[in-house]
Amino acid sequence: MPQTKIAGIGYYVPENIVTNNDLLKHMETSDEWIQERTGIKERRYAHRTEETTTTMGVEAAKIAIERAGITNDDVDFIIFATISPDYYFPGCGVLLQRAMNMKEIGALDIRNQCSGFIYALSVADQFIKTGMYKNILLVASEKHSFGLDFSTRGRNISVIFGDGAGAVVLQPTEEKNRGILSTHLHSDGANAEMLAMFNPGTHANHWMPEAVADFDEAEIGEMFMSHAMIDKAQNFPTMDGPAVFKKAIVKFPEVIMEALSKNDLTAKDIGTLIPHQANLRIAQFVQQKLQLRDDQVFNNIDKFGNTTAASIPIALCEAWEQGKINNGDLVCLAAFGSGFTWGSALLRW
Ligand code: COA
Repeated sequence: MPQTKIAGIGYYVPENIVTNNDLLKHMETSDEWIQERTGIKERRYAHRTEETTTTMGVEAAKIAIERAGITNDDVDFIIFATISPDYYFPGCGVLLQRAMNMKEIGALDIRNQCSGFIYALSVADQFIKTGMYKNILLVASEKHSFGLDFSTRGRNISVIFGDGAGAVVLQPTEEKNRGILSTHLHSDGANAEMLAMFNPGTHANHWMPEAVADFDEAEIGEMFMSHAMIDKAQNFPTMDGPAVFKKAIVKFPEVIMEALSKNDLTAKDIGTLIPHQANLRIAQFVQQKLQLRDDQVFNNIDKFGNTTAASIPIALCEAWEQGKINNGDLVCLAAFGSGFTWGSALLRW
């Protein structure tokens, strides 16, 4: 059975840099608070009208495809991971396919939030290993800046997120001990509402519990997205930050250790750990817990903030471009986020 290798990688971030001080125009916060709690100095925001989640994904995909030495026509399957899609439906996979003039291939959208890239990578790995596809384009992209509450009410979330996209081309390789060694996926829906965006959605109880039993048909459209929801800011994400933090610092090390022990390796063997860029404090906690040296962990949240599904491929690509990942290196990817869902992947570069 072949293994799956990353044949090409690329990322794209918008030009527009938004510093912590820029956010002071909209909300009560401070550069000091944001840096101390999250490690973020600045993030990128997409152009309001000219850039979308899909257009950023296309830019990252072009680079990954070129570096893989293939053309758009060679791509035989698309996987697109995002929680900030251009449309409620259809997904970004088909929009990217159209924008890149790709042939009539399958396109799958994955919405596993911060662990979206790991989930997508695991799905792609199964397709490649079974011989079903030879060139999978996996894109992860987010335009969070379009859906955040920039008032003081939403500051615990809005300061964290940024926009950007990453992409990889995955191919089979017959080389032993190369490419993806294993992937590990987990979820626990018990705390699904701790980090969530409820609307637009088909539930009703979060904003109008008394209406569930007796609404008339004319109100149905209103229930999907209404003025009442917007007035109560229920069209924005909500997060219990401390609870997410506590869970993340347990699950990150656990799922990394799971990947290492599955492959008879230890933390000392890791060449580069790319943790999902949720919060620098979480990454530092994981580093400490696993007793990793600074040169074994790559973080870039200070420049880009948390770009959810896109954060791992952006960081992986940056680390590789900076010469921090070389042939034969052991690379560990790990993510934790809303759902909760979490996962890891171990790769031999
Ligand atoms: N600027 C200034 N003050 C802020 C603020 C901001 N941007 N956001 C929140 N605060 C305030 C709160 O209002 C609160 O004030 P109060 O004590 O007067 O009520 C205070 O800071 C502490 O709030 P809390 O939410 O307890 O802060 P925290 O120390 O837990 O830090 C996070 C908040 C979000 C940085 C932190 O919880 C975190 O990183 N959690 C994990 C989140 C994460 O990684 N999410 C992505 C998952 S993939």
